[in-house]
Amino acid sequence: MCGIIGHVGNGDALETLLTGLENLEYRGYDSAGVAVQNGSGIAVEKRSGKVQELKDSIEEVSLTGEVGIGHTRWSTHGPPTDENAHPHTDETEDVAVVHNGIVENYAELREWLRGKGHEFTSDTDTEVIPHLIQYHIDRGLDSEAAFRRAIDELEGSYAITAMFSGEHVLYAARQGSPLVVGIEDDQFFLASDVPAFLEYTDTVVYLEDGDVAIVDEDGIECTDLAGEPITREPETVEWDPEQAGKGEYDHFMLKEIHEQPVSLSQAIEGRVDPARGRIALEEFGPATFEGVESVQLIACGTSYHAALYGSLALNRAGVRARALLANEYSVGAPPVDENTLVIAVSQSGETADTLNALRQASAEGAATLTVTNVVGSTAARVADETLFIRAGPEIGVAATKTFSSQAVMLVLLAQRIADDVRGGPGADLESLLTELSRMPAAIDDLLSSTNARSIARRYEGCQSYFFIGRGLGFPVALEGALKFKEITYDHAEGFASGELKHGPLALVTPETPVFAVFTGTEDEKTLKNAEEAQTRGAPVIAVCPDGHRAVDVADAHLEIPDTDSMLAGLFANVQLQLVSYHAARLLERPIDKPRNLAKSVTVE
Ligand code: F6R
Repeated sequence: MCGIIGHVGNGDALETLLTGLENLEYRGYDSAGVAVQNGSGIAVEKRSGKVQELKDSIEEVSLTGEVGIGHTRWSTHGPPTDENAHPHTDETEDVAVVHNGIVENYAELREWLRGKGHEFTSDTDTEVIPHLIQYHIDRGLDSEAAFRRAIDELEGSYAITAMFSGEHVLYAARQGSPLVVGIEDDQFFLASDVPAFLEYTDTVVYLEDGDVAIVDEDGIECTDLAGEPITREPETVEWDPEQAGKGEYDHFMLKEIHEQPVSLSQAIEGRVDPARGRIALEEFGPATFEGVESVQLIACGTSYHAALYGSLALNRAGVRARALLANEYSVGAPPVDENTLVIAVSQSGETADTLNALRQASAEGAATLTVTNVVGSTAARVADETLFIRAGPEIGVAATKTFSSQAVMLVLLAQRIADDVRGGPGADLESLLTELSRMPAAIDDLLSSTNARSIARRYEGCQSYFFIGRGLGFPVALEGALKFKEITYDHAEGFASGELKHGPLALVTPETPVFAVFTGTEDEKTLKNAEEAQTRGAPVIAVCPDGHRAVDVADAHLEIPDTDSMLAGLFANVQLQLVSYHAARLLERPIDKPRNLAKSVTVE
């Protein structure tokens, strides 16, 4: 968790640092801080709360400075107070450090340093790092050597950037948490993620685990921890700053919901050929999946719902598959062997739970594949194979467009795996591919005709919100409920429709609207389950095509097009995303940054 930014170059570093921090707030927004060289040493300003609060206090103290580092925090060790905010320094304020990750041996290091006379002012694991560096400097090492020695003594995961009083140099190290360098002539940026500096440059160098980078106005020197030079080639990223901004929308979430026609077009471009009834996933060589006997899909949160969607698509295609929560994998994974394909589904490609499960599966001999949005992410590097969903940056903490793209790519991948394993795709490919190629335009129509706002208003203030679905409608019901609770803070639950009568029906009252998702599979049964809730007073909102029998029975209707049953749930999901958005808006929630959450969860 947390976002790091650093800047080396001519002129005042503060504007760049603050812009970077605002762009990185999706990684955490419990507190924020900066440290700059102000001519007489290192000046630090940090505050609990959002970046705006930091900006206000910087204005108050008229801070300026060249070369600096900044941080936006999502708390792991210690509450979100001013003291616990980064950057952290040693007692003399000669070294300042920002850190993303967890120093697992911080308690031992702190005790040991205390024994050497060091005093600590925060509850964080990070604070041991500047103290450790200073300890080595006090014993005669220069800045670089002290930095390397301290890094070598840390256990756990980290992306670290440090600076030393009077030096126009940044020292960075990566182990298990992302870190990228941006380059624009003699301006250099260090950050947890590319959107931090997209306003300034699209040329980036992705650091790898074990890398140490030393950045000054003359360039970047990449080495391993021991100091052996490493070559890391600059790459050009295709995201532009406007894409990463809110544009005409009030919230990133709404913008990202509306981007789905484009993000889906990008996802399927060149990958489906309806005329020839072909799927072309060029990233995989011929018969890549031959010999796969079973598939496990691992993921968390929204990505887990996409994984569940994918597992059902695989099962339908005749391939044995199961979706598993990545955070339960270490305690309950079914055995794997070389004939097991483990697919990690992760928007960010940096989710610690998912990476751990992926590494475990790989160590146990499974073949691995990542479905991710982020090129250069850890998951993409760890897995044997990668399928990028090409959704573009997603800034809203609540995942929207990436869920649709993940699900669509998993549906395509399911057909490809079935083809390699069984000698033919599992679905009626012609219908699927035709409907898929129409999907971007059909979502556009849905977005311009939706009544989600009036549904949100009609059921505002209810006690609880239920979402039900069967088959591919089940992950959509789970996702509908997750989105609703995440951004409205109201209670919401998703159920397999057939499960209602096995317990949850006891909760049903006129104050518990039930959103029923119809995907064209056993819809009669789902309708019966919805009616069972309606009989007990619950209003039912049918999410189905016009003309569907459920429309006559339900109290309200969210329309989806009549499409292939493999895709219907994804249209229903867009309607439910919009209902959640408008419900949260009525409640004036901070939609893009729900309390207690962060976009990228890099801790277990
Ligand atoms: C919810 C949401 C989270 C993420 C989860 C996994 O809207 O976004 O539940 O899906 O934290 O993140 P990734 O997909 O980056 O692995």
